[in-house]
Amino acid sequence: MEIKTIGVLTSGGDAPGMNAAVRAVVRSGISQGLKVIGINRGYAGLIAGDVKEMTARTVSDTVHRGGTILYTARCKEFREEAGLQKAKDMCKKLGIDGIAVIGGDGSYRGARDLSVRGVPCIGIPGTIDNDIACTDYTIGYDTAMNTALDMIDRLMDTAMSHERCIVVEVMGRGAGYIALNTAIAAGASAVLIPEVEPNVEAIITRLQRAYSLGKKHSIVVVAEGSKVRAQELTEIISNRLNMEARCMVLGHVQRGGSPTLRDRVEASRMGCRAVELLSQGIGNRVVCCKGNEIVDYDILEALQMKKEIDMHLYKVMLDVSF
Ligand code: F6P
Repeated sequence: MEIKTIGVLTSGGDAPGMNAAVRAVVRSGISQGLKVIGINRGYAGLIAGDVKEMTARTVSDTVHRGGTILYTARCKEFREEAGLQKAKDMCKKLGIDGIAVIGGDGSYRGARDLSVRGVPCIGIPGTIDNDIACTDYTIGYDTAMNTALDMIDRLMDTAMSHERCIVVEVMGRGAGYIALNTAIAAGASAVLIPEVEPNVEAIITRLQRAYSLGKKHSIVVVAEGSKVRAQELTEIISNRLNMEARCMVLGHVQRGGSPTLRDRVEASRMGCRAVELLSQGIGNRVVCCKGNEIVDYDILEALQMKKEIDMHLYKVMLDVSF
């Protein structure tokens, strides 16, 4: 199948660096003589035919911008056969021969379903959570961690001044990568992540030990997906340790902001690789970072992979946090 026109869309939760990936797809596509169509609002926009032709200039001044210039959405209709058929028909109508899909693993299911219906799609991992098993790294992860770290550093200042414990909830619906890394980097006293069964007693003991060694203020980091949530832990700490505690949920601030160098570079590398594959008519694959290499896997194979949290890193946290 000769590929003349490719589409690009962003889907699921936005992540800093998505624009750098869009830009890479657009510019490398144009460099290879392809026409590139930007699809607004993910699969919903594909079904509706909400598209615009991209030129080298439509992606000017975007590499450093957070959010996604293509907007994003989560689309229920696309999970049904009728929605998939509409999307396929729309690709035919618009002359779209293949699509680069930037998003999380929910977005890859859609990419696989469309690929097997004859529209080759390539997934590019974009989510702050870093919870995609086939890749060491997802676009937005580095920026989100650094944003969270900056916020926690600020909280540490006020915790110190008032001699308080501040419990901070960071994003990560099912994954503790942001929590674990920011906890180590911020000098937190404890961390709760979904991958490790919460042990509140152990946290109380850790804090008691740290305070008996002279600590006067502390930060505890809790991943959003942990079974014990930040508010609950704040109340337990305040009651059990008889200290002033505050809870801070960082929320969506972690998803915004200018992407870090790492997010921009990895997004650019993965965007270019996606176009290399699409231009050869290859679909049903997801582009990944493995070590320092960019590789690609079959989407089904990628979706079946499991990602484990690095327990050595968790041990580092336990070793240094008192
Ligand atoms: O998957 C990325 C993520 O930011 C999660 O960490 C979080 O649970 C979720 O998206 C929030 O989604 P929404 O923006 O729909 O509230």
